[in-house]
Amino acid sequence: MIYLDWNATTKPLPEVVAAMAQAAGEAWANPSSVHGLGRRAASCVEHARALVAGLFAADSRDVVLTSGGTEANNLAIRSAFAQGKGTLLTSRLEHPSVTRVAEALEREGTARVRWLEVHEDGTLNVDDVALAFTEANDVRLVTVQAVNHETGVIQPVEAVAAMAHAKGALVHVDAVQAVSKVDILPCSADTIAIAAHKFRGPKGVGALVHRPGVRLVAIMGGGSQERGIRPGTVDPVAAAGMAAAIAWVRTSGRADYAAIEVERDALEAALLAMAEGALRNGTAARAPHVSNLYFPRAVGPELVAALDLEGVCVSSGSACSAGTSEPSPVLTAMVGATRAMASVRISLGEVFTTETREQVTSAFVRVLARL
Ligand SMILES: Cc1ncc(COP(=O)(O)O)c(C=O)c1O
Repeated sequence: MIYLDWNATTKPLPEVVAAMAQAAGEAWANPSSVHGLGRRAASCVEHARALVAGLFAADSRDVVLTSGGTEANNLAIRSAFAQGKGTLLTSRLEHPSVTRVAEALEREGTARVRWLEVHEDGTLNVDDVALAFTEANDVRLVTVQAVNHETGVIQPVEAVAAMAHAKGALVHVDAVQAVSKVDILPCSADTIAIAAHKFRGPKGVGALVHRPGVRLVAIMGGGSQERGIRPGTVDPVAAAGMAAAIAWVRTSGRADYAAIEVERDALEAALLAMAEGALRNGTAARAPHVSNLYFPRAVGPELVAALDLEGVCVSSGSACSAGTSEPSPVLTAMVGATRAMASVRISLGEVFTTETREQVTSAFVRVLARL
């Protein structure tokens, strides 16, 4: 099988698997226990925390470990509105772990949600952010993702953060798809979400990094782990895996990804040339590994199934919405539902080669000919 669905998840690196195996043997105790075995487990957790902090030039004390990106997004957004009602600025470009929380806060009567406009090129409309600030004087939080999960389009985080901070609002950045793919610094966000499984680490672990002084409020009741902000026993094995993945991100991850841009562009050019009217979704500046393509006579899920039979794994919409017949909300906001229904997302790993590109191109030729 040729796996081209790296935005859904990435294959853990061998060194990640090795670090986890070692931790499972040696650091299996409860990291909150004060005895020696507990301290051994806690050292895995604290090492991971220090490496997460290093990614954002933050302090370890400003890192809350979570079960992944979804929990980190929920924690950041709910924390902002735990301290009072107000307006939330967000957009349909965001992942469901942001948009569904926004909808829930609105239903609960806690937040008024102002959905920001989106450009056809896949970027957030910064002028509309400015307009939204003139319309509402009670904006508590703006959410803006760093890199879009479906198109790879890089979002105007710093421009939005400057506007928000000038008005005294907080900024939450979902950087889940950015780590290892693009430069994530500088980042002026108040809170930043990451998930290890998107950068060759294990599933089930991630973090919310915050600016010093930002108040976070537990969304679950329980013990005093993670300073009471995130109750529940932290998994030292997952933490060890995340630490090994971050070590890779710091040494070679970004450069490895940058190197595949040329392959991505060549693949995209070949695929677009195969079908009349085929178009790229997300024409703004992108991360180097994503290609989201519209094929006019195709039905996205059918194309995914046909490619699967050819041994090529791609997706239509994000993994979280896979299996639904609804078109992708991200593409719908950008280019409309009809085009969204006829699109597929190809997301490459840094291991993609010219040989793989040729195999994928041949598979597309066969599949598109049958459509
Ligand atoms: C942009 C973005 N945010 C958040 C998430 C959720 O992360 P997790 O799967 O770790 O909960 C994803 C996962 O696809 C994502 O792509």
